[in-house]
Amino acid sequence: MHRGFSLSAVLTSLAIVVSLCSRAAAGIVVETIHRFPPNESIALENLAVRKTGEIIVTLDNLPTIYQIEPEVNGSATFIHTFEGYVGLHGIVEVQPDQFYINAGNLSLVTHIDVPGSSSVFHVNMTGFPENVQVNKVADFPESGILNGMTLLSRDEGLVYIADSRVGVVYLLDVYKGNYSVAINDTLTNQPPGASEISNCVHGVHVFQRTPDSQKYLYFTNFAQGIVGRVPICENGLASGPAEVVTGNLTTPEDFALDEDGNIFLALFDDNDFIRIDGRTHEITVLAGSPNSTEYKWASAAEFGRRDSDRRSLYAAIDGGYLAPDNVGGTLFRIELGDLAVV
Ligand SMILES: *[C@@H]1O[C@H](CO)[C@@H](O)[C@H](O)[C@H]1NC(C)=O
Ligand SMILES: *[C@@H]1O[C@H](CO)[C@@H](O)[C@H](O)[C@H]1NC(C)=O
Ligand SMILES: *[C@@H]1O[C@H](CO)[C@@H](O)[C@H](O)[C@H]1NC(C)=O
Ligand SMILES: *[C@@H]1O[C@H](CO)[C@@H](O)[C@H](O)[C@H]1NC(C)=O
Ligand SMILES: *[C@@H]1O[C@H](CO)[C@@H](O)[C@H](O)[C@H]1NC(C)=O
Ligand SMILES: *[C@@H]1O[C@H](CO)[C@@H](O)[C@H](O)[C@H]1NC(C)=O
Ligand SMILES: *[C@@H]1O[C@H](CO)[C@@H](O)[C@H](O)[C@H]1NC(C)=O
Ligand SMILES: *[C@@H]1O[C@H](CO)[C@@H](O)[C@H](O)[C@H]1NC(C)=O
Repeated sequence: MHRGFSLSAVLTSLAIVVSLCSRAAAGIVVETIHRFPPNESIALENLAVRKTGEIIVTLDNLPTIYQIEPEVNGSATFIHTFEGYVGLHGIVEVQPDQFYINAGNLSLVTHIDVPGSSSVFHVNMTGFPENVQVNKVADFPESGILNGMTLLSRDEGLVYIADSRVGVVYLLDVYKGNYSVAINDTLTNQPPGASEISNCVHGVHVFQRTPDSQKYLYFTNFAQGIVGRVPICENGLASGPAEVVTGNLTTPEDFALDEDGNIFLALFDDNDFIRIDGRTHEITVLAGSPNSTEYKWASAAEFGRRDSDRRSLYAAIDGGYLAPDNVGGTLFRIELGDLAVV
Protein backbone atom coordinates (compact mmCIF):
# COMPACT_ATOMS: atom_id res chain seq x y z
CA MET A 1 0.00 0.00 0.00
CA HIS A 2 1.35 3.35 -0.98
CA ARG A 3 0.11 6.86 -0.73
CA GLY A 4 -0.14 8.40 -4.17
CA PHE A 5 3.02 10.34 -4.64
CA SER A 6 4.55 11.80 -7.75
CA LEU A 7 7.37 10.50 -9.83
CA SER A 8 9.33 13.65 -9.12
CA ALA A 9 9.14 12.95 -5.38
CA VAL A 10 10.49 9.45 -6.00
CA LEU A 11 13.30 10.70 -8.18
CA THR A 12 14.32 13.41 -5.77
CA SER A 13 14.28 11.08 -2.75
CA LEU A 14 17.88 10.16 -3.51
CA ALA A 15 18.95 13.75 -3.04
CA ILE A 16 17.42 14.01 0.40
CA VAL A 17 18.93 10.72 1.58
CA VAL A 18 22.37 12.08 0.83
CA SER A 19 21.82 15.42 2.56
CA LEU A 20 20.10 13.81 5.57
CA CYS A 21 22.97 11.44 6.17
CA SER A 22 25.42 14.31 6.23
CA ARG A 23 24.12 15.61 9.54
CA ALA A 24 22.21 13.48 12.01
CA ALA A 25 21.60 14.92 15.44
CA ALA A 26 23.61 13.38 18.23
CA GLY A 27 22.27 12.67 21.68
CA ILE A 28 18.58 13.10 20.97
CA VAL A 29 16.44 11.08 23.37
CA VAL A 30 13.38 9.35 21.97
CA GLU A 31 10.88 7.63 24.24
CA THR A 32 7.97 5.40 23.25
CA ILE A 33 4.82 6.86 24.73
CA HIS A 34 2.32 4.36 23.33
CA ARG A 35 2.43 1.63 20.71
CA PHE A 36 -0.86 0.11 19.55
CA PRO A 37 -0.41 -3.62 18.80
CA PRO A 38 0.02 -4.23 15.03
CA ASN A 39 -2.97 -6.59 15.05
CA GLU A 40 -5.30 -3.82 16.22
CA SER A 41 -5.15 -1.89 12.91
CA ILE A 42 -4.50 1.56 14.36
CA ALA A 43 -3.01 3.80 11.64
CA LEU A 44 -2.12 7.06 13.43
CA GLU A 45 -2.56 10.10 11.20
CA ASN A 46 -2.57 13.23 13.31
CA LEU A 47 -2.48 14.52 16.87
CA ALA A 48 -3.26 17.47 19.08
CA VAL A 49 -2.01 18.17 22.59
CA ARG A 50 -4.50 19.23 25.29
CA LYS A 51 -3.63 22.13 27.59
CA THR A 52 -3.28 19.56 30.40
CA GLY A 53 -0.70 17.63 28.35
CA GLU A 54 -2.59 14.55 27.13
CA ILE A 55 -2.43 13.76 23.43
CA ILE A 56 -5.47 13.19 21.22
CA VAL A 57 -4.74 11.02 18.18
CA THR A 58 -6.74 10.60 14.97
CA LEU A 59 -6.70 7.46 12.80
CA ASP A 60 -6.64 7.22 9.01
CA ASN A 61 -8.33 3.82 8.89
CA LEU A 62 -10.92 4.01 11.69
CA PRO A 63 -13.24 6.87 12.72
CA THR A 64 -12.07 6.80 16.34
CA ILE A 65 -10.10 9.18 18.56
CA TYR A 66 -8.08 8.16 21.60
CA GLN A 67 -6.43 10.10 24.40
CA ILE A 68 -2.90 9.07 25.32
CA GLU A 69 -1.23 9.89 28.64
CA PRO A 70 2.03 11.84 28.07
CA GLU A 71 4.37 9.39 29.81
CA VAL A 72 6.49 6.39 28.81
CA ASN A 73 4.10 3.47 28.22
CA GLY A 74 1.20 5.89 28.72
CA SER A 75 -2.23 4.34 28.44
CA ALA A 76 -4.68 5.05 25.60
CA THR A 77 -8.30 5.81 26.45
CA PHE A 78 -11.16 5.69 23.96
CA ILE A 79 -12.80 9.09 23.40
CA HIS A 80 -15.32 8.76 20.56
CA THR A 81 -16.23 6.95 17.32
CA PHE A 82 -17.71 8.97 14.44
CA GLU A 83 -20.24 6.46 13.11
CA GLY A 84 -20.74 6.38 9.35
CA TYR A 85 -17.19 7.42 8.42
CA VAL A 86 -14.11 5.45 7.40
CA GLY A 87 -11.38 7.59 8.98
CA LEU A 88 -10.15 10.88 10.40
CA HIS A 89 -7.31 13.24 9.53
CA GLY A 90 -6.77 16.80 10.80
CA ILE A 91 -7.42 18.03 14.34
CA VAL A 92 -7.15 21.55 15.78
CA GLU A 93 -8.03 23.22 19.08
CA VAL A 94 -9.86 26.55 18.86
CA GLN A 95 -11.00 27.50 22.39
CA PRO A 96 -9.41 25.59 25.32
CA ASP A 97 -10.37 21.88 25.07
CA GLN A 98 -12.67 22.58 22.08
CA PHE A 99 -11.32 20.49 19.21
CA TYR A 100 -12.34 20.31 15.55
CA ILE A 101 -11.73 17.16 13.54
CA ASN A 102 -12.39 16.17 9.94
CA ALA A 103 -13.96 12.81 9.13
CA GLY A 104 -14.64 11.24 5.76
CA ASN A 105 -14.72 8.12 3.65
CA LEU A 106 -11.27 8.70 2.22
CA SER A 107 -8.15 6.92 3.39
CA LEU A 108 -4.65 8.19 2.68
CA VAL A 109 -3.34 4.61 2.82
CA THR A 110 -5.98 2.28 1.40
CA HIS A 111 -7.39 4.83 -1.09
CA ILE A 112 -10.95 4.07 -0.18
CA ASP A 113 -12.39 7.14 -1.81
CA VAL A 114 -15.82 8.72 -1.59
CA PRO A 115 -15.25 12.33 -2.72
CA GLY A 116 -17.49 14.84 -0.98
CA SER A 117 -18.08 12.58 2.02
CA SER A 118 -16.07 14.68 4.50
CA SER A 119 -17.39 16.70 7.40
CA VAL A 120 -15.91 18.68 10.27
CA PHE A 121 -17.03 17.93 13.84
CA HIS A 122 -16.67 19.83 17.11
CA VAL A 123 -15.47 17.69 20.04
CA ASN A 124 -15.89 19.27 23.46
CA MET A 125 -13.35 17.62 25.78
CA THR A 126 -14.21 19.70 28.87
CA GLY A 127 -16.26 16.91 30.42
CA PHE A 128 -14.02 13.99 29.33
CA PRO A 129 -14.31 11.11 30.13
CA GLU A 130 -17.83 11.26 31.57
CA ASN A 131 -19.33 13.61 29.01
CA VAL A 132 -17.80 14.23 25.58
CA GLN A 133 -20.07 16.39 23.42
CA VAL A 134 -19.75 15.96 19.66
CA ASN A 135 -21.61 17.90 16.99
CA LYS A 136 -21.23 18.41 13.27
CA VAL A 137 -20.05 21.85 12.14
CA ALA A 138 -20.10 21.55 8.33
CA ASP A 139 -20.29 19.16 5.39
CA PHE A 140 -17.82 19.53 2.50
CA PRO A 141 -19.62 18.23 -0.60
CA GLU A 142 -17.01 19.57 -3.05
CA SER A 143 -14.00 18.26 -1.13
CA GLY A 144 -11.49 15.51 -1.80
CA ILE A 145 -9.40 14.41 1.19
CA LEU A 146 -9.67 16.87 4.05
CA ASN A 147 -6.37 16.76 5.89
CA GLY A 148 -4.24 19.05 8.09
CA MET A 149 -6.05 21.74 10.11
CA THR A 150 -4.66 24.81 11.87
CA LEU A 151 -5.91 27.88 13.69
CA LEU A 152 -6.00 31.32 12.09
CA SER A 153 -8.19 33.22 14.58
CA ARG A 154 -9.34 31.93 17.96
CA ASP A 155 -11.79 34.83 18.47
CA GLU A 156 -13.37 34.54 15.04
CA GLY A 157 -13.23 30.74 15.06
CA LEU A 158 -11.38 30.57 11.75
CA VAL A 159 -9.40 27.45 10.88
CA TYR A 160 -7.55 26.38 7.73
CA ILE A 161 -8.15 22.91 6.30
CA ALA A 162 -5.92 21.41 3.61
CA ASP A 163 -7.63 19.41 0.87
CA SER A 164 -4.98 16.92 -0.27
CA ARG A 165 -6.83 15.79 -3.35
CA VAL A 166 -8.28 19.08 -4.67
CA GLY A 167 -5.05 20.95 -3.83
CA VAL A 168 -6.49 23.95 -2.01
CA VAL A 169 -6.73 25.20 1.57
CA TYR A 170 -10.17 26.13 2.88
CA LEU A 171 -10.96 28.63 5.59
CA LEU A 172 -13.78 27.41 7.87
CA ASP A 173 -15.72 29.53 10.33
CA VAL A 174 -16.38 26.90 13.01
CA TYR A 175 -19.06 29.04 14.66
CA LYS A 176 -21.12 29.85 11.55
CA GLY A 177 -20.29 26.58 9.76
CA ASN A 178 -19.46 28.22 6.41
CA TYR A 179 -16.24 27.96 4.50
CA SER A 180 -14.53 29.10 1.30
CA VAL A 181 -11.33 28.45 -0.65
CA ALA A 182 -8.60 30.67 0.84
CA ILE A 183 -5.44 29.35 -0.86
CA ASN A 184 -5.24 27.87 -4.34
CA ASP A 185 -1.66 28.03 -5.61
CA THR A 186 0.41 25.87 -7.96
CA LEU A 187 2.49 24.93 -4.88
CA THR A 188 -0.58 23.64 -2.98
CA ASN A 189 -2.00 21.94 -6.09
CA GLN A 190 -1.28 18.50 -7.51
CA PRO A 191 1.93 18.34 -9.56
CA PRO A 192 1.60 17.99 -13.34
CA GLY A 193 0.67 14.45 -14.34
CA ALA A 194 -0.44 13.46 -10.82
CA SER A 195 -2.30 10.17 -10.50
CA GLU A 196 -5.91 9.95 -9.32
CA ILE A 197 -4.76 8.94 -5.86
CA SER A 198 -2.03 11.55 -5.51
CA ASN A 199 -2.09 13.65 -2.32
CA CYS A 200 -0.75 17.19 -2.49
CA VAL A 201 -1.13 19.95 0.17
CA HIS A 202 -1.07 18.11 3.48
CA GLY A 203 -0.02 19.84 6.73
CA VAL A 204 -0.67 23.55 7.46
CA HIS A 205 0.57 26.00 10.14
CA VAL A 206 0.38 29.79 10.56
CA PHE A 207 3.67 31.54 11.38
CA GLN A 208 4.55 35.16 12.10
CA ARG A 209 8.06 35.85 13.39
CA THR A 210 7.15 39.06 15.24
CA PRO A 211 3.83 40.91 15.63
CA ASP A 212 4.95 43.42 12.97
CA SER A 213 6.21 40.97 10.38
CA GLN A 214 4.41 39.29 7.50
CA LYS A 215 2.09 36.45 8.45
CA TYR A 216 2.49 33.22 6.47
CA LEU A 217 0.68 29.95 6.06
CA TYR A 218 3.35 27.23 5.94
CA PHE A 219 2.32 23.99 4.29
CA THR A 220 3.67 20.70 3.02
CA ASN A 221 2.89 19.30 -0.41
CA PHE A 222 3.24 15.51 -0.17
CA ALA A 223 3.41 14.81 -3.92
CA GLN A 224 5.57 17.85 -4.79
CA GLY A 225 7.99 17.02 -1.95
CA ILE A 226 8.14 20.55 -0.56
CA VAL A 227 7.57 22.72 2.44
CA GLY A 228 6.13 25.97 1.10
CA ARG A 229 4.70 29.15 2.49
CA VAL A 230 2.23 31.74 1.29
CA PRO A 231 1.83 35.29 2.66
CA ILE A 232 -1.65 35.83 4.11
CA CYS A 233 -3.82 38.85 4.92
CA GLU A 234 -5.69 39.37 8.19
CA ASN A 235 -8.80 37.83 6.57
CA GLY A 236 -6.84 34.65 5.81
CA LEU A 237 -6.65 34.98 2.04
CA ALA A 238 -3.34 34.79 0.18
CA SER A 239 -1.73 38.19 -0.37
CA GLY A 240 0.77 36.89 -2.92
CA PRO A 241 2.07 33.75 -4.56
CA ALA A 242 3.45 30.86 -2.50
CA GLU A 243 7.18 30.07 -2.43
CA VAL A 244 9.24 26.96 -1.71
CA VAL A 245 10.95 26.93 1.71
CA THR A 246 12.62 23.52 1.25
CA GLY A 247 12.30 21.19 -1.71
CA ASN A 248 13.42 17.69 -2.62
CA LEU A 249 11.81 16.16 0.46
CA THR A 250 10.41 12.63 0.35
CA THR A 251 6.65 12.65 1.09
CA PRO A 252 6.47 15.47 3.69
CA GLU A 253 3.49 14.98 6.01
CA ASP A 254 2.47 17.00 9.07
CA PHE A 255 4.81 19.27 11.03
CA ALA A 256 5.21 21.68 13.93
CA LEU A 257 6.81 25.14 13.86
CA ASP A 258 8.62 26.70 16.80
CA GLU A 259 8.84 30.42 17.63
CA ASP A 260 11.90 30.90 15.44
CA GLY A 261 10.34 29.24 12.40
CA ASN A 262 12.23 25.96 12.73
CA ILE A 263 10.21 23.16 11.16
CA PHE A 264 9.80 19.73 12.79
CA LEU A 265 8.53 17.47 10.06
CA ALA A 266 7.42 13.87 9.49
CA LEU A 267 8.64 12.31 6.21
CA PHE A 268 6.21 9.47 5.56
CA ASP A 269 8.06 7.14 3.18
CA ASP A 270 11.46 8.09 4.64
CA ASN A 271 10.31 6.73 8.03
CA ASP A 272 11.84 9.64 9.88
CA PHE A 273 11.37 12.97 11.61
CA ILE A 274 13.57 15.89 10.63
CA ARG A 275 14.26 19.47 11.70
CA ILE A 276 14.61 22.15 9.03
CA ASP A 277 16.39 25.21 10.39
CA GLY A 278 14.12 28.24 9.95
CA ARG A 279 16.96 30.51 8.84
CA THR A 280 19.58 28.33 7.12
CA HIS A 281 17.18 25.58 5.99
CA GLU A 282 19.78 23.05 7.11
CA ILE A 283 18.27 19.60 7.71
CA THR A 284 18.90 17.50 10.83
CA VAL A 285 17.48 14.00 11.32
CA LEU A 286 15.81 13.68 14.73
CA ALA A 287 14.74 10.02 14.59
CA GLY A 288 14.40 7.23 12.05
CA SER A 289 15.93 6.52 8.66
CA PRO A 290 14.67 5.47 5.23
CA ASN A 291 14.98 1.77 6.09
CA SER A 292 13.71 2.07 9.63
CA THR A 293 10.81 -0.12 10.64
CA GLU A 294 10.83 1.38 14.15
CA TYR A 295 9.52 4.65 12.65
CA LYS A 296 7.47 3.09 9.83
CA TRP A 297 5.52 5.79 7.97
CA ALA A 298 6.06 8.97 10.00
CA SER A 299 2.85 10.98 10.05
CA ALA A 300 2.68 13.93 12.46
CA ALA A 301 4.39 15.99 15.17
CA GLU A 302 3.35 18.59 17.79
CA PHE A 303 5.04 20.20 20.79
CA GLY A 304 4.11 19.38 24.36
CA ARG A 305 2.27 22.12 26.28
CA ARG A 306 3.35 21.55 29.88
CA ASP A 307 6.41 23.22 31.46
CA SER A 308 8.06 19.80 31.54
CA ASP A 309 7.58 18.99 27.83
CA ARG A 310 7.51 22.30 25.92
CA ARG A 311 10.81 21.33 24.27
CA SER A 312 9.53 17.86 23.42
CA LEU A 313 7.95 16.79 20.18
CA TYR A 314 5.12 14.26 20.30
CA ALA A 315 5.66 12.37 17.06
CA ALA A 316 3.27 9.83 15.53
CA ILE A 317 3.81 7.09 12.99
CA ASP A 318 1.12 5.26 11.02
CA GLY A 319 2.96 2.05 11.88
CA GLY A 320 2.63 0.53 8.40
CA TYR A 321 -1.06 -0.29 8.22
CA LEU A 322 -1.59 -3.38 5.99
CA ALA A 323 2.16 -3.59 5.24
CA PRO A 324 3.99 -6.87 6.02
CA ASP A 325 6.32 -5.06 8.43
CA ASN A 326 3.54 -3.23 10.29
CA VAL A 327 4.82 -2.26 13.75
CA GLY A 328 1.54 -0.69 14.90
CA GLY A 329 0.62 2.99 15.16
CA THR A 330 2.97 4.54 17.70
CA LEU A 331 3.37 7.81 19.56
CA PHE A 332 6.92 8.86 20.48
CA ARG A 333 8.33 11.76 22.47
CA ILE A 334 11.48 13.34 21.07
CA GLU A 335 13.37 15.55 23.55
CA LEU A 336 14.63 18.49 21.47
CA GLY A 337 16.54 20.53 24.03
CA ASP A 338 18.23 23.49 22.31
CA LEU A 339 16.97 22.42 18.89
CA ALA A 340 13.60 24.02 19.67
CA VAL A 341 12.94 27.72 20.37
CA VAL A 342 9.86 27.81 22.57
C1 LIG B 1 -3.61 -8.47 19.56
O1 LIG B 1 -2.62 -9.30 20.13
C2 LIG B 1 -2.53 -9.24 21.55
C3 LIG B 1 -1.38 -10.11 22.01
O2 LIG B 1 -0.23 -9.77 21.35
C4 LIG B 1 -3.85 -9.68 22.17
O3 LIG B 1 -3.78 -9.50 23.57
C5 LIG B 1 -4.98 -8.83 21.60
O4 LIG B 1 -6.22 -9.33 22.07
C6 LIG B 1 -4.99 -8.85 20.09
N1 LIG B 1 -6.00 -7.92 19.60
C7 LIG B 1 -6.81 -8.21 18.58
C8 LIG B 1 -7.76 -7.13 18.20
O5 LIG B 1 -6.78 -9.28 18.01
C1 LIG C 1 7.62 0.20 28.89
O1 LIG C 1 7.22 -1.02 28.28
C2 LIG C 1 8.32 -1.77 27.80
C3 LIG C 1 7.76 -2.96 27.04
O2 LIG C 1 6.76 -3.60 27.75
C4 LIG C 1 9.17 -2.19 29.00
O3 LIG C 1 10.29 -2.92 28.54
C5 LIG C 1 9.65 -0.95 29.73
O4 LIG C 1 10.33 -1.29 30.90
C6 LIG C 1 8.48 -0.04 30.09
N1 LIG C 1 9.02 1.23 30.60
C7 LIG C 1 8.48 1.88 31.62
C8 LIG C 1 9.17 3.13 32.05
O5 LIG C 1 7.47 1.48 32.17
C1 LIG D 1 -18.96 5.77 4.53
O1 LIG D 1 -18.56 4.50 5.04
C2 LIG D 1 -19.45 4.02 6.04
C3 LIG D 1 -18.82 2.78 6.64
O2 LIG D 1 -18.44 1.89 5.64
C4 LIG D 1 -20.82 3.79 5.44
O3 LIG D 1 -21.71 3.37 6.45
C5 LIG D 1 -21.32 5.11 4.84
O4 LIG D 1 -22.54 4.90 4.17
C6 LIG D 1 -20.32 5.68 3.86
N1 LIG D 1 -20.74 7.02 3.45
C7 LIG D 1 -20.70 7.42 2.18
C8 LIG D 1 -21.14 8.83 1.92
O5 LIG D 1 -20.33 6.69 1.27
C1 LIG E 1 -18.46 21.83 26.81
O1 LIG E 1 -19.06 20.87 27.66
C2 LIG E 1 -19.29 21.36 29.00
C3 LIG E 1 -19.88 20.19 29.80
O2 LIG E 1 -18.96 19.13 29.84
C4 LIG E 1 -20.25 22.52 28.96
O3 LIG E 1 -20.40 23.06 30.26
C5 LIG E 1 -19.67 23.61 28.04
O4 LIG E 1 -20.64 24.64 27.91
C6 LIG E 1 -19.36 23.04 26.67
N1 LIG E 1 -18.67 24.07 25.89
C7 LIG E 1 -18.93 24.30 24.60
C8 LIG E 1 -18.16 25.37 23.95
O5 LIG E 1 -19.77 23.66 23.97
C1 LIG F 1 -19.20 33.14 5.95
O1 LIG F 1 -20.28 33.92 5.49
C2 LIG F 1 -20.14 35.31 5.76
C3 LIG F 1 -21.45 35.98 5.37
O2 LIG F 1 -21.79 35.65 4.07
C4 LIG F 1 -18.95 35.84 4.98
O3 LIG F 1 -18.79 37.21 5.24
C5 LIG F 1 -17.70 35.09 5.44
O4 LIG F 1 -16.58 35.51 4.66
C6 LIG F 1 -17.89 33.59 5.28
N1 LIG F 1 -16.76 32.93 5.94
C7 LIG F 1 -15.95 32.10 5.30
C8 LIG F 1 -14.85 31.50 6.11
O5 LIG F 1 -16.08 31.80 4.12
C1 LIG G 1 -7.93 26.66 -8.32
O1 LIG G 1 -7.39 27.48 -9.33
C2 LIG G 1 -7.46 26.87 -10.63
C3 LIG G 1 -6.71 27.78 -11.59
O2 LIG G 1 -7.19 29.07 -11.49
C4 LIG G 1 -8.93 26.69 -11.00
O3 LIG G 1 -9.01 26.07 -12.26
C5 LIG G 1 -9.60 25.79 -9.97
O4 LIG G 1 -10.98 25.69 -10.24
C6 LIG G 1 -9.41 26.39 -8.58
N1 LIG G 1 -9.92 25.41 -7.59
C7 LIG G 1 -10.82 25.70 -6.67
C8 LIG G 1 -11.27 24.56 -5.80
O5 LIG G 1 -11.26 26.82 -6.48
C1 LIG H 1 16.06 19.76 -5.98
O1 LIG H 1 17.38 19.32 -6.25
C2 LIG H 1 17.82 19.63 -7.56
C3 LIG H 1 19.17 18.96 -7.78
O2 LIG H 1 20.04 19.30 -6.72
C4 LIG H 1 17.86 21.13 -7.74
O3 LIG H 1 18.23 21.46 -9.05
C5 LIG H 1 16.45 21.69 -7.49
O4 LIG H 1 16.49 23.11 -7.53
C6 LIG H 1 15.94 21.27 -6.14
N1 LIG H 1 14.54 21.66 -6.03
C7 LIG H 1 14.07 22.38 -5.03
C8 LIG H 1 12.63 22.72 -5.11
O5 LIG H 1 14.75 22.72 -4.09
C1 LIG I 1 17.81 0.27 2.48
O1 LIG I 1 17.13 -0.79 1.83
C2 LIG I 1 17.39 -0.86 0.44
C3 LIG I 1 16.47 -1.89 -0.16
O2 LIG I 1 16.45 -3.04 0.62
C4 LIG I 1 18.87 -1.16 0.25
O3 LIG I 1 19.16 -1.20 -1.13
C5 LIG I 1 19.70 -0.06 0.90
O4 LIG I 1 21.07 -0.38 0.85
C6 LIG I 1 19.31 0.12 2.37
N1 LIG I 1 19.97 1.30 2.89
C7 LIG I 1 20.62 1.32 4.05
C8 LIG I 1 21.21 2.63 4.46
O5 LIG I 1 20.70 0.34 4.75
